[in-house]
Amino acid sequence: MTQSPTSPHTGDGEALRERALAALLTARERTTLLTDSVDDHELTAQHSPLMSPLVWDLAHIGNQEELWLLRGVAGREAMRPEIDGLYDAFEHPRATRPSLPLLAPAEARSYASEVRGRALDVLDSTPLDGGTALVRSGFAFGMIAQHEQQHDETMLITHQLRSGPVALTAPEPPRAVDAPALASEVLVHGGSFTMGTSTEPWALDNERPAHRRDVPGFCIDTAPVTCGAYRAFIEDGGYEERRWWAPAGWAMVREHELGAPLFWHRDAGQWLRRRFGVTEPVKDDEPVLHVSWYEADAYARWAGRRLPTEAEWEKAARHDPASGRSRRYPWGDEDPTPERANLGQRHLRPAPAGAYPAGRAPCGAGQLIGDVWEWTASDFLPYPGFAPFPYREYSEVFFGPEHKVLRGGSFAVDTVACRGTFRNWDLPVRRQIFAGFRTARDL
Ligand code: AVJ
Ligand code: FE
Repeated sequence: MTQSPTSPHTGDGEALRERALAALLTARERTTLLTDSVDDHELTAQHSPLMSPLVWDLAHIGNQEELWLLRGVAGREAMRPEIDGLYDAFEHPRATRPSLPLLAPAEARSYASEVRGRALDVLDSTPLDGGTALVRSGFAFGMIAQHEQQHDETMLITHQLRSGPVALTAPEPPRAVDAPALASEVLVHGGSFTMGTSTEPWALDNERPAHRRDVPGFCIDTAPVTCGAYRAFIEDGGYEERRWWAPAGWAMVREHELGAPLFWHRDAGQWLRRRFGVTEPVKDDEPVLHVSWYEADAYARWAGRRLPTEAEWEKAARHDPASGRSRRYPWGDEDPTPERANLGQRHLRPAPAGAYPAGRAPCGAGQLIGDVWEWTASDFLPYPGFAPFPYREYSEVFFGPEHKVLRGGSFAVDTVACRGTFRNWDLPVRRQIFAGFRTARDL
């Protein structure tokens, strides 16, 4: 397979077909694990008003695949037109989904697997080296694999919110190698860099097009902010002092009487946290997780720092001063491996700060990819030259000041849905997502 640094795996239909097949199979394996690990009652229950029942995600995954691969790419008729509305995320807010006449677990499973069988036939028979923008370079197949993996992360959040017996386990992530020797921050020199991409074949619309951005010099944390550092903010009365908080953040803290990250509680002077049904002491060297943007913003202000902008984050993660170009990932253009980043739900928690030395960026910052999503200071906005593709409801309807950008992906994100240019977004009050942050400062 031909690989050039700026256009990895383009121009080779067969390699892309294999890549798409592997991505679809990996996603379905994950979906199956997440939905087979609880009983039918738990699949149809609402574990949190913030989330859909797991059985909704399952059939929605199948329905999107049918829409884009069977009807979109192959021009087939709808298999079950009467269910489309049920699985349209815009028709029914999450909290109302349990009361819909959803497909029962067995039906949802067989619908998703029937769609998949047909989709693999379509993948087999569709040329990927030309054609419409939807099939060129296998985009639609890559998009659908990413969509399924995004819902697999959503379903993992539902697992985290559920109570009841432990359903998921995973081995521990690797340790930090030289954490005490790590500088707490690194310098990124001022100057322009290339943000976004026009060449990554499966990049989604909001990552496009590549464009130059000038970013003045700044310093950024070498690793995500740890639970230990965050505990110092709590113990210094951070949640009681209005001056650290954006006004809407302060209102949130008062209204919900917040005093720690979601899933933390104090017992006999010790901080404990619940993770996938297991309660354990908070680990000081682990990146803090389940904080809202407002908490990240307040912590940074307390620390005399600020959140990085999205452009700063991407420059720290991708810019290679030696070549002047932007890499696909912090470590280079090669795909993620288990040595480089904590991705793919291999471990069900972030690795300690200082782990993954092989994943560091040229500036020296580590764990930019994987471990925890990182809140940035930036609103979710289109890049200059943005064009919605293939549907407005993926990105365009979410642009605006109400959503903040998250970067880098968490331990729950699969490699197919994670890269240096990938943009996630959410409301600044959200805490159930696998999000932490790192801080920055002006020079
Ligand atoms: C990009 C994670 C914000 O889950 O709302 C899934 C991804 N879009 N189905 C979401 C998505 C349509 C989206 N995020
Ligand atoms: Fe979706």
